[in-house]
Amino acid sequence: MVGIGGVSVCEEAETVKMLTIEPGIDLSAPEVRLKAIEMLEGGGLIYLPKSGFELSGGERALISDTSNILTRVPDVEDGRPTIIFDPAHGRIKKYHFVHVNGKMMRAQIRDTARPDLEAIMSRYSKWGENVIAQLFPSYQQALDRKRTTYRPIPRNSTQSLHIDSSYGYPTQGRSMLRIFTNINPVNRPRIWQIGEPFEPFVRRFLPSVHLSKPSWISSILARLGIIDGAKTKYDQYIATLRSLGIRDKEYQRTAPRKIMEFPAGSSWIVLTDLVLHGAMGGQHSLDQTFYLPADAMGDPSRSPLRILERLTGEALV
Ligand SMILES: [Fe+2]
Repeated sequence: MVGIGGVSVCEEAETVKMLTIEPGIDLSAPEVRLKAIEMLEGGGLIYLPKSGFELSGGERALISDTSNILTRVPDVEDGRPTIIFDPAHGRIKKYHFVHVNGKMMRAQIRDTARPDLEAIMSRYSKWGENVIAQLFPSYQQALDRKRTTYRPIPRNSTQSLHIDSSYGYPTQGRSMLRIFTNINPVNRPRIWQIGEPFEPFVRRFLPSVHLSKPSWISSILARLGIIDGAKTKYDQYIATLRSLGIRDKEYQRTAPRKIMEFPAGSSWIVLTDLVLHGAMGGQHSLDQTFYLPADAMGDPSRSPLRILERLTGEALV
């Protein structure tokens, strides 16, 4: 660990590098910005131990009992369903379904809790945008602010190491920049495992990738404006690599990793399609997702898009 005026860099062999920015450090100071962009684009994690996003006493009381906010609390504690907020419309998405224990489920929010939850998530989204703008001013023009996620359900099972793919919302080569915050009201840490760098992961699984033709359904949905845009080869590669990694039990058992605990009140920033990660424990976290085009990066050759294009020898968007 190398410390310079409250900003420290931690390097571990084979797994994630981390930049810690202590409270009180000016996020817009040029040397902090330089270190932050270097760390983020290099597949590292930026950690803010006391980032300053806070809930009011009333908001903490509201979320401290999940039955205050959901009409049905699942009996399996694997962190789902999540609550998705759309900052562009200032509303929680009503029909966001996920698989929980073989069933399709969505977070059914109590009408009494909805306005408070929307206020928390809207505030968080703006707060996250402000932190990112201070640290990465060169991204600002190109960044696209997407969904805000709240995870009110405890996670007591380990999520496989994975890279994020965007499911029905193709990024079309853009990277996923996310800022997470642990808002647990009783100081339970959020625990993650973080794996090896992107390139060795891709090299391991690339020979097993066999892409099917892009589905005509997704291109029709895109044309109708139901999903953001058509799936590109990039989206297909990322989704396929992700599921190959998740399904490989040997990989999950033996891949290099580091366990990280994020205390309540802390935040962390990461490109989640560049960094292998999986949640292991915790309850109540917020995150804001942005899409970041490769060409807006300080060094586009470090983007997952350009790394994949180099390794496959193909144009992917
Ligand atoms: Fe993830």
